[in-house]
Amino acid sequence: MPTKAVEAAINDQIAMELESAYIYLAMAAYFDEHNLPGFSHWMRMQHLEEQAHAMKLFDFMLDNGGHVVLKALGKPPSQFKSPLQVMKQSLKHEQKVTTAITNLYELSVEEKDYPAQILLQWFISEQTEEEKTVSDIIAQMQLVGDSGSGLLLIDQQLGGRTEGEE
Ligand code: FEO
Repeated sequence: MPTKAVEAAINDQIAMELESAYIYLAMAAYFDEHNLPGFSHWMRMQHLEEQAHAMKLFDFMLDNGGHVVLKALGKPPSQFKSPLQVMKQSLKHEQKVTTAITNLYELSVEEKDYPAQILLQWFISEQTEEEKTVSDIIAQMQLVGDSGSGLLLIDQQLGGRTEGEE
């Protein structure tokens, strides 16, 4: 059973993952509205992935005798400046999530919650992958600069993302 401190922190993390899903859904809408279906598809997959992250924590709590408390979610942004700005915002968000996961892991070590530590190690690896994937997309976008055809090529590539792929 998680300690009270770990339980509270996991509940906060469930909210953060659901909030991430919500933010990526807002980003998917932006890309759809700007005729970039590949980027939109990628963000929709990201939305599903964040929901799955929330459920992983949700199930962990229930399987370990914790008490799930769902929280109100913040309103995601509805305006973005450009495709590049969206991806940069996404990276910044993932960096925030990484910090939260690291803090949660540290707490689980202090509290000697071994099952939580095992679960959170998975999240730590996942965050490394997520940050790398978004950074790579940003680098490609910076490489093509203002080239519309370059952006369309990246759009095509992102449109091929399948489930489970970063
Ligand atoms: Fe579940 Fe992208 O953090």
